[in-house]
Amino acid sequence: MKIAVLPGDGIGTEIVAEAVKVLKALDLKFEMETAPVGGAAYEAAGHPLPESTLALAKSADAILFGAVGDWKYDKLDRPLRPEQAILGLRKALGLFANFRPAICYEQLTHASSLKPELVAGLDILIIRELTGDIYFGQPRGRRTAVDGHFPGAEEAFDTMRYSRPEIERIARVAFEAARKRSKRVTSVDKANVLETFQLWKDVVTEVHKDYPDVALDHMYVDNAAMQLVKAPKAFDVIVTGNMFGDILSDEASMLTGSIGMLPSASLNDKKQGLYEPSHGSAPDIAGKGVANPLATILSAAMMLRFSLNQPEAADRIETALKKGAGARPAHARHLQRRHDQSRHGADGRRRGQRVALTHR
Ligand code: IPM
Ligand code: MG
Repeated sequence: MKIAVLPGDGIGTEIVAEAVKVLKALDLKFEMETAPVGGAAYEAAGHPLPESTLALAKSADAILFGAVGDWKYDKLDRPLRPEQAILGLRKALGLFANFRPAICYEQLTHASSLKPELVAGLDILIIRELTGDIYFGQPRGRRTAVDGHFPGAEEAFDTMRYSRPEIERIARVAFEAARKRSKRVTSVDKANVLETFQLWKDVVTEVHKDYPDVALDHMYVDNAAMQLVKAPKAFDVIVTGNMFGDILSDEASMLTGSIGMLPSASLNDKKQGLYEPSHGSAPDIAGKGVANPLATILSAAMMLRFSLNQPEAADRIETALKKGAGARPAHARHLQRRHDQSRHGADGRRRGQRVALTHR
C-alpha cells in the first residue's frame, strides 16, 4: 500500500506533518512518498501539478493532501494557479465522488453561528459530484458576442453539462452511503430552470427504483441553501452536482462551528482516493504553529477506512480524537478559535468568503 503525501502551500505543510505523525504511530505497513503540489510545485518545477507529482499520485492507493493557494499566485495565468493542481488531480484520477461530512461536535455546539438547538448533534453528509458540471464542461472561454444583449461585446462562457452515466454513478454512491446511515437522500438540483438539472432529477429518480429502502426527496438549490440554515438536522445525505456541492458544502461546514474539524474524501471507481481537510491553505497563519490539524488527521482516518482497508486503525484515530476533545474543554475552545482556515485566509475574508465567527 502506498500513500502519496502532498502537503501543498500555507498551513498545508504543518497540518500534513501532524497527520503523518499519527499514521506512523499506528505502525502499519505502508509506504509514504512526498511530492510538491500547488504553489510549492510552481516554485519548485514551474507547474502546480508537475508530471512527477501526478505520476506519484496515480501510482498510489491514496493521496493525503494538505491545501493549496496563496494570494501571491492570483496573477498567474489560470493553468498555472495552485487550484489547478486539485482540479487536475480530480480529473486525471477520475475522483468523481466527493464526501463532505458536516458534523457538529458537542464541544463546539456554541461555536456555530446558529442557535445551539439547531446544530446540536448535527451529522449530515454532502456527496458532491466532482468531475463534471460547469467546472469541467467544454466549451468554455472568451470571445466576441454574436448575439445576446450586447452583440459585438467581449463575453465569457462556461458550459454546464451532465451525462446520464455521470449522474447514475453518483446517485448510486449516495444511495449506498445512505443505506449505512438513516436511509434518506435529498437530491439538490435546479430543475425548474436548467436542462442539465432536469436530467439530473430524472436520472436520480430512476436510479432510486433500485433502492426502495432509501427515502428520496428533491430540493431546488436555492431552497436547500435556505433549509440548511433553517433546519439543518432535517437533512441526512445530500447529493448534488459539482458547483452546487461546492457552495452548499462550505455553507454546511459553517454550521458545525469549526471548519478546522471537517475532513473530506474524493474517490474514483477503484476506491483510490484523495483525502484533504475541507478548509484551505490560510497563508496568513502559516508557519505560526497555530493551525488546527484535526481535519487533516480525520482525513487520514477516512483514508484508512475507504482506500487502505484499515477500518480498525481509522476507529482508533477517531476515538482518540473524540476522547481528546471531550476530556479537555480548553482544547475545544482552541479549536473554535482556529476554526476559520478558509481557502486563502484564516479570517475568511477572501473573495467575500466571510465565513462566520472569528474570535481571535
Ligand atoms: C473546494 C474548492 C475548490 C473547488 C477550488 C480550490 C478549485 O473550493 O474543494 O471546494 O471549487 O472545488
Ligand atoms: Mg469549495
